[in-house]
Formats: sequence, C-alpha cells, structure tokens
Amino acid sequence: MLERLERLPVDPILGLMAAFRGDPDPRKVDLGVGVYRDDRGETPVLRAVKQAEQAVLERQTTKAYVAPAGNPGFNQAIERLVLGDEHPALTSGRVRSIQAPGGCGALRLGAQLIQTASPQSVVHVSTPSWANHVPLLSGSGLELARYPYFDAASGAVNFAAMLGALDKLPARSVVLLHASCHNPTGADLSEAQWRELLPVIGQRGLLPFIDIAYQGLGAGIAGDAFGIRLFGAHLPEVLIAVSCSKNFGLYRERTGSLIVIGETASAADADLSQLVRIARTLYSMPPDHGAAIVHEILANEGLRSSWTDELSGMRTRIQDLRTEVVRRLAAACPHRNFGFIAAQRRMFSYLGIDTNQVRELRDRHHIYMTDDSRANVAGLRVDNIPYFAESLAQVLRK
Ligand code: LMR
Repeated sequence: MLERLERLPVDPILGLMAAFRGDPDPRKVDLGVGVYRDDRGETPVLRAVKQAEQAVLERQTTKAYVAPAGNPGFNQAIERLVLGDEHPALTSGRVRSIQAPGGCGALRLGAQLIQTASPQSVVHVSTPSWANHVPLLSGSGLELARYPYFDAASGAVNFAAMLGALDKLPARSVVLLHASCHNPTGADLSEAQWRELLPVIGQRGLLPFIDIAYQGLGAGIAGDAFGIRLFGAHLPEVLIAVSCSKNFGLYRERTGSLIVIGETASAADADLSQLVRIARTLYSMPPDHGAAIVHEILANEGLRSSWTDELSGMRTRIQDLRTEVVRRLAAACPHRNFGFIAAQRRMFSYLGIDTNQVRELRDRHHIYMTDDSRANVAGLRVDNIPYFAESLAQVLRK
C-alpha cells in the first residue's frame, strides 16, 4: 500500500538548510533558514537559557506528564509577555492559553479550533507569507485565500490594497496577520496602520489570527506586540500563535503557545476545553523542556533582565548589519536602490531579484536564500558583507 506514495520535493526552507550544510566552500553564506546568527556565524544558546536550564534540571524530580495544556506558569508568563501585565483582556478574565509544540503547533491548533467552530470560514493569508503558513493552516481542512500585502517597488506594505481587500470580506472570515518582522518581506504595519485596520476588522466581524514569532527582535517587546495589544483591547475575539524559537533561541525545543481571547470568560473556557481535546487527538501533550526554561527566565528578575539584554543585543546587531549592507550595496550596485533594507525590520528582507539570479548566487557564489529572494539578514557577518555585495553586483550586471 505505502509503495504507491510519490516522493515529494524537499521543503523550500528546510531543503536549503541541508544544501548549505553540505556545501564545502569556505566562502558560503547562509541567508536561508530564519535563525539568528552571531558575528561568528553561530546560533548560540543564550546565556539566560543556559542558566535557566541548569536550574530547571537541578530542581526536576520527575519526567511524568505535565498536562494537556502544558505548563501553567509558562502559559501565564507568555500571556503577560505578549499582552503586557495590565491588559484589559487579562484583567477581565477573557484570556486562555495552551502550550504548543512551537509556533507551528500553535498555528495548527488555532486552525483546528476555527475549523471546529466554523468549518466554512476562509482564512485569508498575506501575499506573500511564510512558506509554511499555507500547508500548516490548510492541513486543518480550512479553505485559504490571499490578500495583497507587499509593494515590491517600494519594499513596503501596500496598505491601501490590503485594507481594500479586507474591507470586502464576509463576516466570520479569518485574517492571518504577522505581529512584526513580516516573514518573508520584512515590511511591517506601522502603529497608525494597525489603528486603521482595527475598525475594518471589528465592523466586518472578522477574526484576527496573529502570528508572533519574533517578539523583541523588531521594535522591542512592547513594540512588536503593538497590534496584538490593540486588537485584544478592542475586539471580542483574537487568536495569537506565539513562538519562542527565535527570541529565546529555543528552536529545537519546540516551544510555543496559542493564546485565545474570548468574548467572555466562559466562552474562553469553552475554547480552551476544545483546544485540549484537539491537542489530545494530534500529539496528546506538549514537550516540557523549552517551556520550563522560558518560565524560569520570565519568573526570575535577574534572568529576565539578562535575556532582555541579549535580545536587544541581537536586535542591534541585525540593524547594524542592515545599515552596513545598504552602504556596501550602494557602492557595489550604484544603479539599484537597496535602501529599503535599512528601513525594514529585523531578520528578513526581500531583495527583489528573480529566481534565476537567486540560483546563480547559490550555484556560483555559495550564497543561499529562498527562491523568492528572501534573505535572512542575521546570516550575514561584517566580514562577509563585501563578498555578498560584490557577488550580488556580479549577478545583477549580467
Ligand atoms: C523560517 O522562516 O526560515 C523559519 O521560520 C524556519 C522555518 O521553519 O521555516
């Protein structure tokens, strides 16, 4: 029976990761998978994580199951990190959350919850969006559609087109939004745009489903959650998929959370009971280790401040790389304006080159990025920016 299955092509992002690892060229540059890298090109374990991990392991006396909804301390700490301590949805008791296996797990749990509540609802995803959003969400059985988002000419959000499209959607449509550090374009909504979007979502009766995978790496912890906090304060229902992969550097520990803001406290309880059932049928219970580390960091003042310092160091490093790469590109490619790279937020930028040029960068210059020309700026180092700029100039000159 199983021999009938066709072999599938590799995942566009994970396949690139494997190809990079297998490339022996010492000049190789990985701008593919979205992981943070330091000046040596490494993805280190954060100091706060190392310390928290030690404390967790010393205290741990059992490996017995935690609970289907995960670690309650972690869930509460993440709610406060994302929404802020005194958020009205929290004080009115309308927030529930379930620990999830990474941000991916949270997205899928949210999609399954929507599918249970309203199987006819369509989920609207930005054009473009993270490559895994579509399979993750549509795997729940929900139908997906697209709304315009990015203006390639300016490298910014085409907000008029986005708003125009969302303002035509029927009630109970779901809108998937990126809280910050839009993946793959790096172009984010401004605070004014979030404010303008709010009444459209509210008046049309749409459900915002907000993916927050880079909190602290864009505009800071509060700045990256601006849209979530605003929507959560004014809308009856919001779903939030949280990832701790990038901001805590916990990628392989699969640490995330799905937060539900319900219309009332009892509606939120019902949502959580459904989520627990959904999780039970998918993977039963989430892994413990990453969530225990995050809980330890957020509950301990010293560790928390060490973590926020490291996070702000990461943020500054990426922004410095953006400035430097724009300077080098201006010299290497004077006929092309890459100034938008410095205006965008953190990890990713769309370079706006075509697939053939991306492949030439990969095949001839050992510079890896996804076919749509999404570049993980954090994959650059000050010492390889000149090589990157010169290689890109050579490809563009052809
Ligand atoms: C990315 O966008 O590269 C990351 O979020 C890693 C992944 O799983 O795709």
